[in-house]
Amino acid sequence: MSIKKPVTCDLIIFGGTGDLARKKLIPALYYLFSDGRLPADTQIYIAARKAIENEEFENFLRASCQENLPKNDFSDSDFQRFCEINCYIQVSTDQLESYHNLQDRLTSEEPRDRLFYLAVPPAMFGPICSFLDSSQLTGPNSRIVLEKPLGSDFESANEINEAVAGSFSEDQIYRIDHYLGKEAVQNLMVLRFANSIFEPLWCASHIEHVEITLAENVGVTGRGGYYDRSGAMRDMVQSHLLQLLALVAMEPPANLEPESVRNEKLKVLRSLRPVTDQQIDCDTVRGQYTAGVINGEEVRGYLNEEGIPAESSTETFVAIRAYVDSWRWAGVPFFLRTGKRLPAQQSHIVVRFKSVPHMIFEKHSDDTGYNSLVITLQPDEGIKLFLTAKVPGKGMNLRHVALDLDFNNVFRRRSWNAYERLLLDAIRCDSTLFVRRDEIEAAWNWTDPIVDSWKNSPNPVKPYAAGTWGPGRAKELVEELGFCWDE
Ligand code: BG6
Repeated sequence: MSIKKPVTCDLIIFGGTGDLARKKLIPALYYLFSDGRLPADTQIYIAARKAIENEEFENFLRASCQENLPKNDFSDSDFQRFCEINCYIQVSTDQLESYHNLQDRLTSEEPRDRLFYLAVPPAMFGPICSFLDSSQLTGPNSRIVLEKPLGSDFESANEINEAVAGSFSEDQIYRIDHYLGKEAVQNLMVLRFANSIFEPLWCASHIEHVEITLAENVGVTGRGGYYDRSGAMRDMVQSHLLQLLALVAMEPPANLEPESVRNEKLKVLRSLRPVTDQQIDCDTVRGQYTAGVINGEEVRGYLNEEGIPAESSTETFVAIRAYVDSWRWAGVPFFLRTGKRLPAQQSHIVVRFKSVPHMIFEKHSDDTGYNSLVITLQPDEGIKLFLTAKVPGKGMNLRHVALDLDFNNVFRRRSWNAYERLLLDAIRCDSTLFVRRDEIEAAWNWTDPIVDSWKNSPNPVKPYAAGTWGPGRAKELVEELGFCWDE
């Protein structure tokens, strides 16, 4: 579907009083509204099961904005106007009658777009879609946004995709990976494709390795039930990490049309070298946190978190040595790492270029004589290009120093958060930053065999103390090839 100018839209959020809506979607919509970026006459329907009176609904909206926006970004007068475009609708997602009520509420004389946002567990995606269909809520002007996780393996993802495809065509389906909406992730595309200096070097002849780390210091944050069924592999690697890898490794797309970008990402995902049973212990590490200390505070181990079975072997940490089998990337290791209860909330991509072929300077430490590009996604967004420079003064002392592009300092304006961008894109029919079905399938195709091998492996998940960078083996995974993680 080509990108349209903002249209008049009804946005209906199923699961509208849940955690995601409260913490992310409503605050993002408030920003879009108060900055005047929502198309005129947009109407938001918050749909959930409970009966809620007007006053309670307004209190819910207020709490959602005030708890999740910086104090200075909230204005009472904007909020009052924001309330006017929001309304609550009680919906039992398994009752056809609820959809008829919704249909009555949405019927208008002028044609309007309909965007259904499913912030509900994936098992409900198929049934909701077929109810929407049978109550004639779908049509050429309707679209659907699906939150992750989309299944727990290839088969379950396929089932969900099939069920949704019964009611919506692929170009009406917007699968969210919120990492793609992050400012720094888009800057990665600009960096690669709007600057000519990187492309000639962006290949195996010049790049030694790539590291992608998505580290969190939080634990399972009250989502024990979901997390224990999922684990770090399904929760983070299959989605966010592989999408970032695809953006780093893809060929330049012909343009920014959704299909051009997604075709290139897909090629990367399909070129990932399968990790075989023989390679599993050599190329992957899975860990589970035990009690430890983070920022001076004692935290409990995973097995003592609420909702986690005492015998759970779910991984909360994953490190993988991956390879993209293509001409551009032949032999270049991609080190992927993610985990909960690590020392810092820190996400970055490091592209490490090859060392100079022959070092003529005598006094140099190991970290000189090469360049690296570090793209930081969190906590601050920025790009650093590390160069080797001479320390001023007598002699030829060399040091690795950074050309530092800190987006906050340079642009001095608030970065949009991921959900602001993605909600607006879905309203405007721009699916470039959403994940296509075949991408999801290619990602599961790569991660499923790893999860299966782990299940059959005699080696159990490795413990690591909260507040450390995962099991010791993760360090070796990189050091064996002569490198180290960027910490
Ligand atoms: C979600 C995962 O997709 O991403 C969570 O389900 C994780 O487990 C979160 O904490 C991380 O997102 P962000 O934007 O906070 O890095």
